[in-house]
Amino acid sequence: MTGQITLTRPDDWHLHVRDGQALHTVVPHTAAQFARAIIMPNLRPPVTTTAHALAYKQRILAAVPEGLDFQPLMTLYLTDNLPADEIARARDAGVVALKFYPAGATTNSDAGVTELRKTYATLEAMQRAGMPLLVHGEVTSPEVDLFDREAVFIEKQLIPLRRDFPELKIVFEHITTKEAAQYVAHADRFTAATVTAHHLLFNRNALFSGGIRPHYYCLPVLKREIHRQALVQAVSSGSAKFFLGTDSAPHPAHLKEHASGCAGCYTAHAALEMYAEAFDAAGVLNRLEAFASFNGPAFYGLSRNTGSVTLKRETWTAPESFAFGEAQLKPLRGGESLPWRMV
Ligand code: NCD
Ligand code: ZN
Ligand code: ZN
Repeated sequence: MTGQITLTRPDDWHLHVRDGQALHTVVPHTAAQFARAIIMPNLRPPVTTTAHALAYKQRILAAVPEGLDFQPLMTLYLTDNLPADEIARARDAGVVALKFYPAGATTNSDAGVTELRKTYATLEAMQRAGMPLLVHGEVTSPEVDLFDREAVFIEKQLIPLRRDFPELKIVFEHITTKEAAQYVAHADRFTAATVTAHHLLFNRNALFSGGIRPHYYCLPVLKREIHRQALVQAVSSGSAKFFLGTDSAPHPAHLKEHASGCAGCYTAHAALEMYAEAFDAAGVLNRLEAFASFNGPAFYGLSRNTGSVTLKRETWTAPESFAFGEAQLKPLRGGESLPWRMV
């Protein structure tokens, strides 16, 4: 049994850090584990211009603790009317990608895209610039069962999008189903996916075990066990198309423990530990380094990090909560013991 594993310093390719006081709680957690992270733009108002992204980046950097070296990779929020000429400006300023939220699909997505056709001039510019499109892949039609929204998205939106933009780099974010895992595994080199630790560790029973558990609620929602197994199989296969994206998504505890609790699981405090647990349970700890540290930079055309992190098989108990501005933040599995610990 492996007792310890050392990895090249990894990156988080899908992260929410919010803004203001919240940054001072969550940015240190991520910076302690990852060299870089792709910062999601779903603030209120959303990050829709290069200028806004650069100002946000400075606020994030101001929350990085002294002595830690951490680089936020910024994104813009695609809307129906984000102008095509913003793409060259964004690329020249170091913005790494655009995020596509179908309007109404998830937290702070009301300004998202109502119809993909409306964004075609901008997508054209992105394809030309080699700028990736990061996709929250769920349809929003109320008549589609919540648990089917990702699979339906592939047929209704992703396949047509891929046909219309054959060389647009697309990251199917936080995939949760066997349909998504299979789609990506068989896709060409312009398509990749991120996988969260919680979707590798849990199925939808976690939402209801012993009572309703709001801290396990995120979008896309946890699925059946066969889907969890398909995700584990995808990351175990060694395919370079799958890489680490925590989708750590902090919300004030009182808004999650609420009659209409918001979607998002906070995992940044123990992200690598949870991935190690999932890979270990599948017997593929040897696949963790490529997933966490190599496949992402290869897809984005960035260099690998230098330095390393070490995880040890050692039980510890994660804190039950953190201060979060005026509120509290309850991390996923807070107060529970975890089998892996970062050294
Ligand atoms: C995310 C958030 O809270 O911003 N929530 C979530 O459930 N994943 C949004 C998202 O990534 O869809
Ligand atoms: Zn999302
Ligand atoms: Zn997210």
